[in-house]
Amino acid sequence: MSVRHIIWEGKGLLLLDQRRLPEEEAYVRCDDARQVAEAIKAMVVRGAPALGIVAALGVALEAARLGGEDLSLLEEKVASACELLRSTRPTARNLFWALERMEGVLKGWRGEGRDLPRALEEEALRIWSEDVEANRTMGCLGAELLPQGSRVLTHCNAGALATGGYGTALGLIRRAHEEGRVAEVFASETRPLLQGARLTAWELSREGIPVSVITDNAAGHLMQRGQIGAVVVGADRITARGDTANKIGTYPLAVLARGHGIPFYVVAPSSTFDLSIARGDEITIEERDQEEVLNLYGRRIAPHGVRALNPAFDVTPAELITAIVTEKGIIWPPLEKGIRELLG
Ligand code: MRU
Repeated sequence: MSVRHIIWEGKGLLLLDQRRLPEEEAYVRCDDARQVAEAIKAMVVRGAPALGIVAALGVALEAARLGGEDLSLLEEKVASACELLRSTRPTARNLFWALERMEGVLKGWRGEGRDLPRALEEEALRIWSEDVEANRTMGCLGAELLPQGSRVLTHCNAGALATGGYGTALGLIRRAHEEGRVAEVFASETRPLLQGARLTAWELSREGIPVSVITDNAAGHLMQRGQIGAVVVGADRITARGDTANKIGTYPLAVLARGHGIPFYVVAPSSTFDLSIARGDEITIEERDQEEVLNLYGRRIAPHGVRALNPAFDVTPAELITAIVTEKGIIWPPLEKGIRELLG
């Protein structure tokens, strides 16, 4: 993808405003951790790995901004920046994982005789470049799962925009397309914020990968007619037994895929795994503002006075997942054993 969605300037961070895509390519500028936290909450930037990268850059930004302060005070302020960023969105493991890495630097930098702002910046940039590398590796490994000429369904946006670049599910699809394995991609629109229709379709069409947007409720019909050969999605948090939280609407796709004998693949880097919990019902599911459901493009679509529920994620049980593609290898069922052996 030629548009840069995260631009690091050392004392400033520019984020491509994903709320305004595909109509406009506009950037939001952040000068401190508080502004980064606001951007995450408002979904200027979204997608599990991207949240981790941007949060880490937010910490580095705070340290760069306060560089001249007394060192103990600087440490205290950086630690509160980590806390603030941690409170933005609860489900994506990558956000917490990246902040734990930044806190590791905060604990170790004195002993290593390093400059704190520089050490934090280097760690954040490392988190970013490691993610892009992981995406590319997953793309290579996972592409082989798709036979030539596959028609693939993906949900939400697990592309370059949702990561450091290249993408998890879309990384696999990109690579498989290069190898002639993808004839068409179906992007489910992903109500309420339409990440599929707006972002996935934008990314794929810019690269000349054939994509058709479908409504979220069209998947069953297409599967019944034999038009979908595989489902490929990303993940926000994967437990030790393989239960997988991803954008709301992923679980019904997994049930449908199983019902039609269609493989259901999850693509996620090791930073998405949370081995501290076993079961999916232990994952905190973000509840977002009901106005996101009740309105579309600023226009009310439900009667006034009606309430809405807006869970942002659901959990697909391990049993419905055909395989999980990680940068360390492909995990096949039983997922719990595979996860323990590869990542434990
Ligand atoms: O609410 P969002 O847009 O942050 O949700 C994003 C998703 O659910 C993605 O599918 C997931 O983060 C995988 S991103 C590579």
